[in-house]
Amino acid sequence: MELPGDKSISHRYAILAALAEGRSEIRNYSLAADCRSTLECLRELGIKVEVGREGVHITGAGLGGLKTPRRALDAENSGTTMRMLAGVLAGQAFSSTITGDRSLRRRPMRRVMEPLRQMGAQIRSGEGDVAPLEISGGVLQAIDYTLPVPSAQVKSAILFAGLFADAPTTVRESIATRDHTEIALREFGGVVEAVGDAKGAIRVHPRPKLQARQLLVPGDLSAAVFLIGAALILPESSLTLHNVGLNPTRARVLDFLISIGASIHVASLAMRDGELTGDVAVKHAALAGGTISGAQVAEMIDELPMLAALGPFTEKGIEIHDAQELRVKESDRIAALAEGLRQMGAKVEEFADGLRVEGRSAGKLHGAKVDPHGDHRIAMAVAVAALGAEGETVIRDADCVAVSFPDFFATLERLRGAA
Ligand code: S3P
Repeated sequence: MELPGDKSISHRYAILAALAEGRSEIRNYSLAADCRSTLECLRELGIKVEVGREGVHITGAGLGGLKTPRRALDAENSGTTMRMLAGVLAGQAFSSTITGDRSLRRRPMRRVMEPLRQMGAQIRSGEGDVAPLEISGGVLQAIDYTLPVPSAQVKSAILFAGLFADAPTTVRESIATRDHTEIALREFGGVVEAVGDAKGAIRVHPRPKLQARQLLVPGDLSAAVFLIGAALILPESSLTLHNVGLNPTRARVLDFLISIGASIHVASLAMRDGELTGDVAVKHAALAGGTISGAQVAEMIDELPMLAALGPFTEKGIEIHDAQELRVKESDRIAALAEGLRQMGAKVEEFADGLRVEGRSAGKLHGAKVDPHGDHRIAMAVAVAALGAEGETVIRDADCVAVSFPDFFATLERLRGAA
C-alpha cells in the first residue's frame, strides 16, 4: 500500500526548488489541496510549475528571481504555506499580500510576524494578528531568535528569511519540532549548522547558491496514521505501508502506539535525500491506552486527533495534556474531537490544554451525524472511529479530507475489500 507524499516535505521541496537555479524534479509530491496551494502561490510569484504523472517539475528563479505577484497569494487552508512563504516574502524587494480561507484567516500569525519584523520586514495584518498579511521586505537583518511556541512552521519561516539576511541567522527551540526544512535546505546546497553544542539551536547562512535537485518525497506518516488506526481497531486486520517517512522528529507516534500495545514492525529502513524511510507493518492488537504530554505533544501534534479517537477502543482510555496548540489548528481540534466523539457515545472530558477519552468500559461507540468543522484530520479520525462503531456514521462535508489525503475514503474502501 503506497501513501500520498509527505505534506510537510512537499511544501519545503517546492519552495526551495523555486529559490534554486535550474529545473527540479520532485517525485511523489503530495497532490493534496494544501500542497497544491503552495504550487499556486509559487506560480503567482512567476515560477514555472509543471504537474505531471511522474511528479512535479519546478524551474527555479534563483534567490533573487521571484516576481511581484499580480494579486494576493491564496494559501487557502494551508497554515504551512502561509507561514513559510511569509519568510520568503519578507526577503523580497516587492510588496505582496498572502491570504487564506476562513479557517486560515482565524489562525494566529503574530508568531511569524514578530521575528520577521525583528529582521526588518514590514508586515500589516488583519485585526487580531491574523491574515491577510501584507508584507514588504528587502535585505533583512540577521537575528538570534528563541521560539516562544514550538512550531516548525515558524522555525522554517525564519530559516527561509535568513537566506535573505545580512549575516547568519540563529533559531533556538526548547522543544524539538520537525526538521525537514533544515534537511531540505542542505539538500539544495544551503548551509545550516548546529550552533556549538547547544541543543536545539541552528544557524542558517545567507545567500547560498541553491541548486535544482531530483528528489523523492516519502509517504506521509501523518496520513498513514489514520490507516494504522483503522488496522489497530478492526479485528483480524493486517496492513503493510511502503516507503513511509520515518524522520525521528515525526515517528514518535509509532513509539507511542507500540508502548500502548500496538503490533507495529518497521523494516527496510533507508536514507534518501536526507530523510529516513521504511515499511510499516501493523496488525490488530489490544491497546492499553495511555497519556500524552510535554515534549511528546510537538512530536505527535498532527496525530493527536487519531490517537484521541482510539481512546474508546483502549483499556484505560487516552488522555492528552499540554496540547493547547490543538485549539488553533484548522479547527479547535480539542472542541471538535470532544463534540464528535461524544456524539458517537464516547465519554470525553475536555481540558483547556487537551482531553480525556474514556476507554472500552465506557461502552461501545454508535454511529452518529458528525460535523468535523471543515477539518481534514477531524474527519479522518471520526471516520476511523466510525469503523469500530455500531451503525452508520455520517460525516458532514467529508471531502475536506482532500486537504491532506484526497484518496482517504477510497483507500479505506480498498483496504476493507482486501481484508
Ligand atoms: C507543520 C508543522 C506543524 C504541523 C503542521 C505542519 C510543518 O505546525 O501541525 O501540520 O510542515 O512545518 P506548527 O508549526 O504550527 O506546529
